[in-house]
Amino acid sequence: MKIIVYDQYGPPEVLKMAGWDKPEPKENEVLVKVYASAVNPIDWKVRKGLLRMIVNNKFPKTIGADYAGVVEQTGAKHEKFQEGDEVFGMVEYIKGKAYAEYVIARPNEIYHKPESLDFEESAAIPLAALTALQALRDQPKLKKDQHVLITGSAGGVGSFAVQIAKNLGASVTAVCSTEKEDISRQLGADHIIDYKKQEVTDVNERFDIVFDTVAKYPFSKMKKLMKRKSHYVTTLPSASGYIGGLLRKLFSGKKIHTTSVKAVADDLAFLKQLADEGKLKPLIDSKYPLEQAAEAHKRSETGKARGKIILTVQ
Ligand SMILES: NC(=O)c1ccc[n+]([C@@H]2O[C@H](COP(=O)([O-])OP(=O)(O)OC[C@H]3O[C@@H](n4cnc5c(N)ncnc54)[C@H](OP(=O)(O)O)[C@@H]3O)[C@@H](O)[C@H]2O)c1
Repeated sequence: MKIIVYDQYGPPEVLKMAGWDKPEPKENEVLVKVYASAVNPIDWKVRKGLLRMIVNNKFPKTIGADYAGVVEQTGAKHEKFQEGDEVFGMVEYIKGKAYAEYVIARPNEIYHKPESLDFEESAAIPLAALTALQALRDQPKLKKDQHVLITGSAGGVGSFAVQIAKNLGASVTAVCSTEKEDISRQLGADHIIDYKKQEVTDVNERFDIVFDTVAKYPFSKMKKLMKRKSHYVTTLPSASGYIGGLLRKLFSGKKIHTTSVKAVADDLAFLKQLADEGKLKPLIDSKYPLEQAAEAHKRSETGKARGKIILTVQ
């Protein structure tokens, strides 16, 4: 099978196509023929070696978390899926292996793909939308009529976060550049802060939840946007934020959380349902054939993509 690998950390050009044996599913696993994958910033952060302290540094390395495709083979004890089922999911992003013609999925990493979406749109969902869902729901427990501020509102995570927050009944203030104001409104944002015209930290408003996917400013600056009892959730961990967060958990009504996305089949099922009810629509920035994974990474590294970057595989 064709698979994207790299032999050293470095620029996008280290990515290359290789020919590997098709993997065999173990008892509870499923072999998926991948039709589309998607790029997430974590992919190029690992590729650059930025996470070398926590990943296995053996080469060659494989890459990619998101996939949508068709079940080709199931392990001997697997009962949930059958050959021919159309599925989507997310493999462990640290070990990434979804930029490939075939991927092995474990039970919690896979669900039936939305019927209303094609493979490319379905592949756009898992990592980014799971992040958005888990970040808004799990710790801050976003409730109807709450007011949430979302930075990076037209990025991969933000574009799902705006839609999910609206679905949960919240009022959404989106933070984006001038160029992304229209798309943020189309995604459902009620109010827009154009960060090119106004510093978000100068806004004279208070929110129940601040979901920060950009982390341009430290929590010490963002906290002025928070109500007395409220939550700040970020996708970008920092040691100072973590220690500060622990202290604040003990002494303040302003809670700070760092989200860490997990593959959860029930959450994939929830996202499929939203998509099939027409309440969640992936925003697609661009599509590249698998062999142009390096170009797709270059696009993602600009930080300017409108939603998700797709790799078409089949
Ligand atoms: N912890 C986790 O589990 C987890 C999971 C998923 C993602 N992440 C991390 O979360 C971050 C966002 O991921 P993503 O997939 O949404 O990335 P993305 O698709 O590249 O989106 C980034 C967004 O940031 C905005 N942006 C860039 N520079 C900005 C600035 N100076 N001020 C304000 N906004 C700015 C961009 O919008 P404009 O063009 O409008 O500037 C863009 O919409 C990444 O660092 C990723 O690694 C973490």
